[in-house]
Amino acid sequence: MKNSSLLFISQPTPHSLLEENVHVKVEEREIDIDHVTLNGGVLLKTLILSSDPYMRYRFREPDVPDFCPPILIGDPVDNCGLAKVVRSDDPNLKPGDLVWGYIDFSDYSVYPGKTSHAMKVPLKKIDQHPSIPLSAYIGPMSLPGHTAYLGWKAFMEEKAKTSKTMFISTAAGAVGTFLVEYAKIVAPHLKIIGSTSTEEKVAHLKNIGVDVPINYKTENVGEVLKAHGPIDIYFDNVGGSILDATLMNMRDHGLIVACGCISSAADNSSVKNFEQIFKRSLTVRGFLCYSEAVVPYLEGFWSEIPPLIAQGKITSREHRYNGLKEACNALNSVHTGENTGKAVIVVSTD
Ligand SMILES: NC(=O)c1ccc[n+]([C@@H]2O[C@H](COP(=O)([O-])OP(=O)(O)OC[C@H]3O[C@@H](n4cnc5c(N)ncnc54)[C@H](OP(=O)(O)O)[C@@H]3O)[C@@H](O)[C@H]2O)c1
Repeated sequence: MKNSSLLFISQPTPHSLLEENVHVKVEEREIDIDHVTLNGGVLLKTLILSSDPYMRYRFREPDVPDFCPPILIGDPVDNCGLAKVVRSDDPNLKPGDLVWGYIDFSDYSVYPGKTSHAMKVPLKKIDQHPSIPLSAYIGPMSLPGHTAYLGWKAFMEEKAKTSKTMFISTAAGAVGTFLVEYAKIVAPHLKIIGSTSTEEKVAHLKNIGVDVPINYKTENVGEVLKAHGPIDIYFDNVGGSILDATLMNMRDHGLIVACGCISSAADNSSVKNFEQIFKRSLTVRGFLCYSEAVVPYLEGFWSEIPPLIAQGKITSREHRYNGLKEACNALNSVHTGENTGKAVIVVSTD
């Protein structure tokens, strides 16, 4: 039968979006799902794939070092996703099992297959909670939820006890929404300021409890922060000019948690107000999800968070892209702000 895959075919220049048929393309190849060799692995039918901002660092020259592995020219794109086991040589998995892993952007794929890299962990079997939607397992139950929760536990929880005001940039996105909702539960005394790019997303920020939503496209971030600050904790998802404006409005001895720098995809200008770090005695703490400093808190995530998601206290807002034909759009959406929730690609619903 025909098996479509999204292949990586050429590196985009830094700070540019992916162009379909130039950088990635959907290609159909034959697959014999009854006989394809599994080599001790499994044959997967892909259900849902994740589009994450960090993926842009993977579309690079293979000899350029970075924190995540490159995708090689000619290989299918791969990322966190959910799939169903079709055939299995693995004694721990059987046909029909639902699994999470670093799955190829293909209708069907053999796992682990020929592509191996540091992120390609063994498949994790999912026992879906009846009150948690499947796609949440690549949203609040996966990387975005882990990032917000682990960052909070490792760096912000203690500081929040003596803080008044927290600012979260990209607050309407997957990581941001989780952090807002979780902070509202565990530190309700905090005034939360959140920034985003459209009025529709501002309305979402109000719905999830952000006290001061900012539309950074139409408002002056620095003036709003000045009126509602000073800021004790800044959870930085964007870098660039929003970080600059925040540096000028931090309280002395404040904390900046550097989670991402998504504005650098479009704008590589450097931060101008770096000197505020010493002038205001700030602490700046960068981190990667699953790194040594934060991973000890993962156990707490599994006991604390699934019930909150099942009760609807932590929500799962997603932006669905349908099929591999929309995968290139989905990968770009997180860099244009088109996504109005966790960007997911639904490849199959059965
Ligand atoms: N440290 C880690 O281990 C780790 C792990 C996961 C994610 N992250 C980081 O967390 C951040 C959020 O990730 P996510 O998965 O939750 O994505 P997301 O927020 O669901 O989607 C990305 C959002 O970034 C915003 N954006 C895009 N281009 C921008 C620009 N030039 N300037 C300002 N904002 C821009 C857009 O939101 P607006 O419409 O609001 O502008 C877009 O919707 C990213 O920086 C990501 O790299 C870090």
